Amino acid sequence: MGFNVAIDGPAGAGKSTIAKLVAKEMNFIYVDTGAMYRAIALHLLRKGVQITDTDRFAIDCQDADVTIRYEDGVQQVLLNDENVSGMIRTEEVGNMASASSVDGTVRAKLLDLQRNLAKEKDVVMDGRDIGTNILPNADVKVYLTATVEERANRRFKELSEKGVACDLEKIKADIKERDERDMNREIAPLKQAEDAVYIDSSDMSIEEVKNAICALIHK
Ligand code: DC
Repeated sequence: MGFNVAIDGPAGAGKSTIAKLVAKEMNFIYVDTGAMYRAIALHLLRKGVQITDTDRFAIDCQDADVTIRYEDGVQQVLLNDENVSGMIRTEEVGNMASASSVDGTVRAKLLDLQRNLAKEKDVVMDGRDIGTNILPNADVKVYLTATVEERANRRFKELSEKGVACDLEKIKADIKERDERDMNREIAPLKQAEDAVYIDSSDMSIEEVKNAICALIHK
């Protein structure tokens, strides 16, 4: 069994940035489970499935085979052997991932992949249900969050710096909608595991959050 660090939290809390840094410092592998849900979402979008076509999610995800590999230590997501890592970071794919991950068939598809990775390797795995459902025996669990305002501001800054036109109020509304869906779905909703350490990063620097998590890891 590898040493397992589970980081859960809402969209935009900085999970992937922090998890990557923690993994680097501890020499662990970073596993981004959101990217796997995004790959399935991309598959659905390519098949013309709309966010409201909830009854199509289970059927249309059947022929999506999601795997991952590492290139220079960076996780790559493969959808039916095609590297889609560069195509899954859009708001459209993120919103579709939030909607389609409500479906039990979609979730079941990714469960073994995630559990097997953690069995074999020392991992920092981030997502929504890692500490509560995927790795209930993880050695360290963190629930990382920040206020909606702060998460929206960070996202706005990130997109603006990339030259993407965006609207702060729209970003805030999208984040609220995703929180609502991710936290209130029936299967494996986002919630803090009882034994998770709660970190609100609203007034913390990236370095401070990274150090706080690394201090919890005693391998
Ligand atoms: O972390 P992210 O924004 O890349 O995740 C996209 C969506 O995927 C998220 O809104 C909900 C879903 N997801 C999930 O249901 N369970 C996970 N472990 C990770 C992501």
